[in-house]
Amino acid sequence: MKDTLGLNWEHRFASRADHMKSSAIRELLKLAEQPDFISFAGGFPAPEFFPAREIEETLARLCDSDSLQYGPTEGYRPLRQLWADRLGGKVEEILITTGSQQALDLLGKVLVEPGSTVLVENPTYLAALQAWRVYGAKFAGTPLDQDGLQVDNLPTQGQFLYTIPTFQNPSGATLSLQRRHQLIEWSHKHQIPLIEDDPYGALRFEGEPLPKLVELDPNVVHLCTYSKTLAPSLRVGVLVGAPELICKLVQAKQATDLHTSTLNQRVAYELDTSGYIEKHVMELRQVYKQRRDAMVAAVRKYFPPHTRMIVPQGGMFLWLTLDHDFDSVAALERCVPHKVAYVPGNNFHPHGGDPHTMRLNFSNTRPEMIEEGIRRIAEEL
Ligand SMILES: Cc1ncc(COP(=O)(O)O)c(C=O)c1O
Repeated sequence: MKDTLGLNWEHRFASRADHMKSSAIRELLKLAEQPDFISFAGGFPAPEFFPAREIEETLARLCDSDSLQYGPTEGYRPLRQLWADRLGGKVEEILITTGSQQALDLLGKVLVEPGSTVLVENPTYLAALQAWRVYGAKFAGTPLDQDGLQVDNLPTQGQFLYTIPTFQNPSGATLSLQRRHQLIEWSHKHQIPLIEDDPYGALRFEGEPLPKLVELDPNVVHLCTYSKTLAPSLRVGVLVGAPELICKLVQAKQATDLHTSTLNQRVAYELDTSGYIEKHVMELRQVYKQRRDAMVAAVRKYFPPHTRMIVPQGGMFLWLTLDHDFDSVAALERCVPHKVAYVPGNNFHPHGGDPHTMRLNFSNTRPEMIEEGIRRIAEEL
């Protein structure tokens, strides 16, 4: 609609809006809507495996006046109880959020003072950086390797440390058991809280499962989501934390959206307690393993021989490191006309840099198209 008053909105934005920038991934995703485009850019689950029929049937069954009414900000109590039982905590320690993304935003709202330092993995989840930048966070990044965050290199001061220990986004790396213990020791020693984001932990297709940080230390704030195990559009996430933190987050959430959709929470609860999700995730693990294998094989076949990769044991991403003089941003510009995209690695760094890396999503593309997409990228390298 045309702005007939001729208001100049640019001049009316609050200064915190200066920190809001469009995400490179979102811009790329617009291109991926073209027919025949092979996008390794978004963090999308495999659409062919969405449980549309199960969700439809459950929705129809649960669509009653209880589900359609306003609900408590803390969330649907049986769902909170389920997670309290699962993680050996109390119901007062569970908040249901509108996806994990909302949990990240609410944590920023209540914990980040302008200028405070948030400790992150380098690289890390782009939208966490975006969420906390708005509240004036400064970031201190610590590198990771095949065994996850290099705990020995962590700073000793910061408001909190944000980590994705299992099948990290973007690197696919998993924090080893030894480093998990070491990280908890570091947190106790320096009195810095840990925030564990775990959207991918259930998607392990190889190797021995490792304990979640929250299972090793109940002080850890833990985030989980139904986005990867059911469907992202349900927007149901779970935050586990100390009751006084939950209490403050509830006050913050009230002003944001009052509560997460009760209907969607009940659908997630039903499909979780019926055992459906467990079965569904077993199928997803097989599908994602096949896609990871296809991508790893294609990279070995078409990419320069010195390309380094972290081969993930689960999750949805492959992280590649090319020669030092390689520019993944310039290469992407050459790839897009050939209808293939990935995310240049510099986007995941709080202060940019690392232009010779790239993140490739394998879950959203069928194996035969994965090979074709990798071949097209390799031609532009
Ligand atoms: C590490 C990480 N945290 C949080 C999210 C957001 O998930 P949700 O759909 O639950 O908001 C994502 C989504 O890709 C993610 O990769």
